[in-house]
Amino acid sequence: MEKPAELEFAHLLFGGLAFVLFLSLAIVLFIMLYQRKLHRQQKDMQDQALAYQKNLTSIVVRSQENERERISRDLHDEIGVSLSAAKLYINQIQYENSPTEMMRLAGDASGIIGNIVQDIRQIAQNLSPLILENFGFRQAIHMLMTRIQAGGIRTECYIDFDTTLEKETELGLYRIIQEASGNALKHANPSLIEVSLTQENKLLLLLISDNGSGFDYQKTDLTKTTSMGLSGIKIRAELINGQLSVNSSAITGTEILITIPVTA
Ligand SMILES: Nc1ncnc2c1ncn2[C@@H]1O[C@H](COP(=O)(O)OP(=O)(O)OP(=O)(O)O)[C@@H](O)[C@H]1O
Ligand SMILES: [Mg+2]
Repeated sequence: MEKPAELEFAHLLFGGLAFVLFLSLAIVLFIMLYQRKLHRQQKDMQDQALAYQKNLTSIVVRSQENERERISRDLHDEIGVSLSAAKLYINQIQYENSPTEMMRLAGDASGIIGNIVQDIRQIAQNLSPLILENFGFRQAIHMLMTRIQAGGIRTECYIDFDTTLEKETELGLYRIIQEASGNALKHANPSLIEVSLTQENKLLLLLISDNGSGFDYQKTDLTKTTSMGLSGIKIRAELINGQLSVNSSAITGTEILITIPVTA
């Protein structure tokens, strides 16, 4: 028969062992659960990143499609129609007997063809980043504003920054200015469009504003395939590491601000 002290010791030993075993199991279980949670969180994050990437890709593809549609519309509406008119005038010449009338028709046709040349130059300039190569970023923006001014709307352009920008950033900003000022012309009926590109310490600030009719940005559906301009601005801003903010109302008009961190 065992002595009570030995029995107590055996109890303690088994109790202790059971406790250690339980504790170890609890720790192993905790680690397993924690790892599983961590894994799930990582997977969620990966899924989110993937979804974002997919969304971005689809927006980029859609905006490329939209750009193509715009080019085809420009070619059809501006070039196609003008060429048909010029062809009509030139055709008409063979049926005319009066030299004065022939000269008038030829003059008209030549005038139309002159406009076509300008239109093509304009379309090419809008499309090609070559304008940045040929004239430089600042000059290209001034030229864009001058072209708008030639259409009868006052423009102000203020460019003052010190940092050297990457080519990609310059192209992104140029495209944003093109779209934002184009939107002002297309939708807002403003009397003034302003572009300012300035620097505050390590931030580059691009502000494009118009004093037109404004719109409700919060209610604008950026996923709509028919209007890709604003989502294009958002994507371009993100791609060049910039932050976009849009302020618009019927009283103030529209302000589009992009801020980009730069090395001062
Ligand atoms: N400066 C602005 N003033 C007033 N309304 C604007 C302005 N910019 C955008 N909007 C409004 O926001 C909408 C979306 O603009 P967005 O540039 O995305 O598309 P869009 O100009 O209609 O078409 P797209 O740019 O694809 O040719 C416009 O249809 C217009 O109603
Ligand atoms: Mg637009």
